Amino acid sequence: MSAEDVVELAKRRGFFLQAAGAYGGVSGFYTFGPQGAALKQNVEDSWRDRFTIREGNMEVDAPTVMPEPVFEASGHLDGFDDMLVECPECGESHRADHIVEDNTDIEEAESMPIADVEEVIAEYELVCPTCGTGLAGQAIEDFNLMFETNIGPGSSQPGYLRPETAQGIFVEFPQLAEYARNQLPFGVTQIGRAYRNEISPRKSLLRVREFTQAELELFIDPEEDEPDLESVADVTAPFYPATEQEAEDGEPFEATIGEVVEEGVVGKPWVAYYLGVAKQWYESIGVDMDRFRFRQHLGGELAHYAADCWDAEAEVDGDWIELGGFAYRSDYDLGKHHDHSDEEFTIFKQYDEPVTVERPTVDPDMSVLGPEFGGAASDVGDALEELAERNPDAFREAQRASEGASGDEPRAGEDGTVTVEVDGESYDVSVDAANFAVEEVTESGEHVLPHVVEPSLGIDRALYTVLDHSYRTDEVDGEERTYLDLPAEVAPTTVGVFPLMDRDGLGERAREVAEELREAGLSVTYDDSGAIGRRYRRQDEVGTPFCVTVDYTTIGEARDDDEGEPGTVTVRERDATAQTRVPVEDLAETLVALRDGELSFEDV
Ligand code: ATP
Ligand code: GLY
Repeated sequence: MSAEDVVELAKRRGFFLQAAGAYGGVSGFYTFGPQGAALKQNVEDSWRDRFTIREGNMEVDAPTVMPEPVFEASGHLDGFDDMLVECPECGESHRADHIVEDNTDIEEAESMPIADVEEVIAEYELVCPTCGTGLAGQAIEDFNLMFETNIGPGSSQPGYLRPETAQGIFVEFPQLAEYARNQLPFGVTQIGRAYRNEISPRKSLLRVREFTQAELELFIDPEEDEPDLESVADVTAPFYPATEQEAEDGEPFEATIGEVVEEGVVGKPWVAYYLGVAKQWYESIGVDMDRFRFRQHLGGELAHYAADCWDAEAEVDGDWIELGGFAYRSDYDLGKHHDHSDEEFTIFKQYDEPVTVERPTVDPDMSVLGPEFGGAASDVGDALEELAERNPDAFREAQRASEGASGDEPRAGEDGTVTVEVDGESYDVSVDAANFAVEEVTESGEHVLPHVVEPSLGIDRALYTVLDHSYRTDEVDGEERTYLDLPAEVAPTTVGVFPLMDRDGLGERAREVAEELREAGLSVTYDDSGAIGRRYRRQDEVGTPFCVTVDYTTIGEARDDDEGEPGTVTVRERDATAQTRVPVEDLAETLVALRDGELSFEDV
C-alpha cells in the first residue's frame, strides 16, 4: 500500500485530515477525527501506562507558551535551526539537507556543515523540488524553528510556543526535586503539544508544525545511579551505530540490550535501558518489528543539548523515519537554568561521613577597591570571589610574591597582585586588599547538578506508522477487503455491536447489549444500517477487533437448533473473520479479557 492509501483511508474514515480545509488549509496542521482522536488517546494512555506508571515516575502538564529567557537559557534561541534554501525563481523555501538526502546517496545531510551542503548542491546540480530551477550558488541560511508570539499587549514580553515539552519540566526542577524528596534518580513525564515552524512540512503526519510529544526526563546522579537492566537485557533489536554508518559497507546488526551495553555499543546504560522499554512498547502498539531499528546520531547531527543520542526508527513508505529520540542530555539543561535563573537547580547529596575540606575565601577591602576602581569596585569584588573558587593558586602565588618568596621561574602574580576581568577589562588587585584566606570547613554533603536521560517520543509519527504498518488487504467471500490489523489495546473501538436487522426486538436487545458492554468499560460502536457484511467491512477498515451480532437465537426465537444456544450472540474476530457464540452474560468479561490479551480468540 502507498502513503496515498493511508491518507485516503484516514480522511474517509475519520482518522485525520488537513485542518481548516474550508479556508484552504495550512501545511503542517491536522485535525484528528473521531477514529484518530480515539487511537491517539489510546496510544497516549498506553505510553503513560508504560513510561509513567510502570516506571514509577511523576507526570506534569506545563504551559505551551513560555517566555523568552527560558529559550535563551535552553539554547533554542541560538541553536534550534534547520537549513533553509530559497528558490531564486519561484521563491519557495526548502530544507537544504532534505534536498540533498532525497537526491543523493547521502543519508544524514543534517549532520553536515552548511558550506558542505552548499557544495553538494552545486556538485550534483540539485534543483528546486517545486519548479526545477537550479539551486547551485544559493546561500543556505540557519532558520530558527520556534514560533514567536507576544505575551500580553505590545511587544515588550516576547514568548515562544515550546519546541519540545522538555523545557516545561526543566524549568520546574527545583520544585519537582522537592516533590521527589530530593532523592535521585527520579523521573518526570509529560504528554503535550510541541510546535516547530518546519520549513517544509511533508509526508502527512510525519512532519507537521504542531504535534504531540511524550517525553520522560530522568534525573540521575551520574556517579552513582545505574539502571537495573534485567527486565530488558534479552530484548533484541537491530542497532545501527555511528561507526557502522560511517563505514563503507556498514550495516545495522541484531543484538540484545545486554550485549550492546556490555560491548559499549550504547555507551550510556540508561539510554540502553529505555531503548529496551521502547522497543517493547512500539511492538505493543502495532509497529512492525521487521521495519524497526535503533540508529545512533552522527557527531554533527546531535542536538545542541545532547552528549549522545539514539533514535528509534521505522520504515514507512520506503524511508526510515525517526519515531523517538533517546538522548543523554548530561547536566546541560539544569546547568543552563541554574546559571540563567535565580534558583538552584542542584540536589544536595549527603556524604556517608562528613568530610573536612579547605575552602578558599576572599573578603575584598572596599575601602581600597572603591577609590581605586570606582563604579566597577563591586563587580571586581564579585570577580575576586569567583576567581578564589576557581583558581585559588593565583592568590597563593600573589601572596608568596608579596612576601618576597617567588621562585626562580617568573610566574603570574609575582608583583603581589591578582588580575580579574570585568566586562572585558582587566583589573589588577593587590592580594592584601583581596584578603585571601583558606578556611577548613566540615561538610556533610555537596550540591550536584543531576544529569538527564531523555526518551522523547512523537505520538503523531507513532500513530501514522501504526496505521501504515497495520494496513492490510485480503479477500473475504470473493470480495476484496481493507482492514487495519491494530492491537486491541489501541484500536479506536474495541467492539462493534449489530442487530441482525432492526426489527422483532433485535434492535432493542442489541442496544441493551451495547450499553452493558459500555458499562464494563469497553469502547463500543452500535451499527444497524445496511447489510451485515457492509457493517463488518466498516469496522474492519477502522481496525475494530471484535464484532457482536444479536440475532434470533439471542432473543430465544431461533427456528433451528443448529443456530446455537438461546441467549448467545456471535462474536467475530477481525483478522481471520472467524466466529463463535458466547452467552450474553459472559460477553463483557470475555471481550475485556480478549482486549487485554488475557484470552485468545481460539480459546473463547
Ligand atoms: P527530525 O530530524 O525528523 O526533524 P528531530 O530530530 O528534530 O526529528 P526531535 O527533536 O528528536 O526530532 O524530537 C523528538 C520527537 O518529536 C521526534 O522523534 C518525533 O517523533 C517528534 N517530532 C519532532 N519534530 C516533529 C515534526 N515536525 N512532526 C511530527 N513529529 C515531530
Ligand atoms: N525533547 C527532545 C526534543 O524534542 O528534541
